[in-house]
Amino acid sequence: MTSIPLLETVGLRKTYGKNEILKGVDFAIEPGQVKAVLGPSGSGKSTILRLMALLEPVDSGSILLRGREIGVATGRDGRSIPLPERKLARERTDIGMVFQKFNLFAHLDVLHNVILGLTEVHGVSKAEAVDRAERMLERVGMSQRMRHYPSELSGGQQQRVAIARALVLDPSVMLFDEPTSALDPELVNEVLTVMEDLAEQGMTMIVVTHETRFARRVADEVALFDSGVIVEQAPPEQFFTAPEHERTRAFLSHIH
Ligand SMILES: Nc1ncnc2c1ncn2[C@@H]1O[C@H](COP(=O)(O)OP(=O)(O)OP(=O)(O)O)[C@@H](O)[C@H]1O
Ligand SMILES: [Mg+2]
Repeated sequence: MTSIPLLETVGLRKTYGKNEILKGVDFAIEPGQVKAVLGPSGSGKSTILRLMALLEPVDSGSILLRGREIGVATGRDGRSIPLPERKLARERTDIGMVFQKFNLFAHLDVLHNVILGLTEVHGVSKAEAVDRAERMLERVGMSQRMRHYPSELSGGQQQRVAIARALVLDPSVMLFDEPTSALDPELVNEVLTVMEDLAEQGMTMIVVTHETRFARRVADEVALFDSGVIVEQAPPEQFFTAPEHERTRAFLSHIH
């Protein structure tokens, strides 16, 4: 029996101006799997995450969640049309995203940053939202800082709040775009630890990262992205010690 991927892209294409950034990417992740995505700057890693998170429309190809196409509706002529914003917002709920720059609201304290999506987008009552936020902040080790403002927190703490903010919406999959690369080196581990715990608890995760040790330890598979295509995809041991493709060997020789 073959299982249906939790999240899948089929022939995904995206062009900015004259530059084709994604050249027909087929990518899939199974429930509970962790995939690390590596690749040089400009290869399209952030772009594919933004498309999968429904933050931008695709040019062509499709994104499937549990086998069902998301982000589009069928128009009168039978062709795909973008979903109206309200429906998009609902579909986005299932896909949590964490960015390199945490993007917390500076004028809101930690608790209010985390409950905002619940109360404003999902119409959850304040009391329930606070309850859920408290549990998520506990999970990322930030329950002592609920009344602090982002400017009063370290980068690592802000990123853990950003993770809680995504988790509180109860996503099916979490996408991380270089979640530790804006952090001072001594703060990287506290964020990676939270992510590793999440993975151990069975969260499905796609992680764009330069942290090869993390990829090796936590990922089920590692993918190399280059120039808008996936060059190679393999379990970490094979990917790092016996890659099949010359391009992968060249990339690894640069980062080691
Ligand atoms: N909104 C946009 N408008 C125009 N060009 C864009 C846009 N977003 C991305 N690009 C271009 O698409 C290419 C891929 O960008 P992307 O951010 O996906 O790369 P990346 O692999 O995440 O790189 P990095 O490792 O530096 O984060 C780059 O050349 C970038 O300049
Ligand atoms: Mg990027």
